[in-house]
Amino acid sequence: MKQYLFPQAAGIDTLELRDVPTPQPGRGQILVRMRAASLNYRDLNVAAGRAARGSVPANLVPLSDGAGEVVACGPAVDRVAVGDRVAGLFMQNWLGGDMEPYHVDSSRGGAIDGVLAEYVVFDQDGVVPLPAHLSFEEGATLPCAGLTAWNALYAGKPLRSGETVLILGTGGVSIFALQFARAAGARVIGTSSSQEKLARIAALGASDGVNYRTHPEWQTEVLALTGGRGVDHVVEVGGAGTLGRSVAAARIGGQVHLIGVLTGGEIDPTPILRRNTVLRGIYVGSRQMFQAMNAAVALHKLRPVVDRVFDFADAKAAYHHLKGQTHVGKVVIRIE
Ligand SMILES: NC(=O)c1ccc[n+]([C@@H]2O[C@H](COP(=O)([O-])OP(=O)(O)OC[C@H]3O[C@@H](n4cnc5c(N)ncnc54)[C@H](OP(=O)(O)O)[C@@H]3O)[C@@H](O)[C@H]2O)c1
Repeated sequence: MKQYLFPQAAGIDTLELRDVPTPQPGRGQILVRMRAASLNYRDLNVAAGRAARGSVPANLVPLSDGAGEVVACGPAVDRVAVGDRVAGLFMQNWLGGDMEPYHVDSSRGGAIDGVLAEYVVFDQDGVVPLPAHLSFEEGATLPCAGLTAWNALYAGKPLRSGETVLILGTGGVSIFALQFARAAGARVIGTSSSQEKLARIAALGASDGVNYRTHPEWQTEVLALTGGRGVDHVVEVGGAGTLGRSVAAARIGGQVHLIGVLTGGEIDPTPILRRNTVLRGIYVGSRQMFQAMNAAVALHKLRPVVDRVFDFADAKAAYHHLKGQTHVGKVVIRIE
């Protein structure tokens, strides 16, 4: 079978395609014929040799997010059957409850091998069924970006109908947050670097958009759009360079979900306490959250926004496309 790996991750172009023996599932394991994988911003860091716990292991198979069909089951598999359409968990062993350090050590495409391969062995506990209306390409977008947005809006103090959500930029996590918020009957305000992308999020249901290039003090625009009150939730993917403005754009007592690291900078903590802001760190999510999200995705017939699908042979081009940040939503690789 064919499998991508980074012998030593030192840039996108160090990705190599290899022929390797097809793995076989052991006790409690399943073999999945991967049909699609999707990229996240994190995969650019991994390609550059940066992983959550330091360096990237040699010969790492990249990408956390993928979907496919179960083609074989090892002994003692009773949760999954041949023919099931499944998506893998980002953290293979975070099934529910609070996150523990050892869960992070099971992160696909970072701590352990990922899914950019024709076949992948999973523990039977490390997958969830795909919502029936989704294609493999759509389903492959859920494990990291989808679940992170879901965790932000629902696993803490849940979003309620009529509340307002601020999304930053138009990448994978932010567009999922938009879709989940609209499905809940919430208002969405978005920021972006581009008018064209703001038009896209308007078409997806955002009530308002602010161009953060032409309005560097975008938080004042967001406050004006909410009558000076501020938003209820911020899906904070920007990091240190945007956090201060996100706090200012949130209402007193509002929730700022800390997700991303797109920008660097410094943050003055004083407004956080003066505004009673609730800062909540998010690290993807558990299988329990994934199943709750999939129930909502199935009920609302939500379709992930796929910007572009690349062929398996063009995996490097998919990375370069994500890096270029012209995308809206998700970048996907089809595995035929
Ligand atoms: N904590 C977690 O569990 C978790 C999970 C997933 C992702 N993340 C993090 O969340 C961030 C987003 O990930 P992703 O995969 O959704 O990224 P992505 O799909 O690559 O999206 C990146 C987009 O962010 C926007 N952006 C860039 N700089 C910005 C800025 N200064 N202010 C506002 N928006 C900006 C751009 O959209 P526009 O051109 O429209 O502005 C860009 O296209 C990354 O830092 C990633 O590491 C964390």
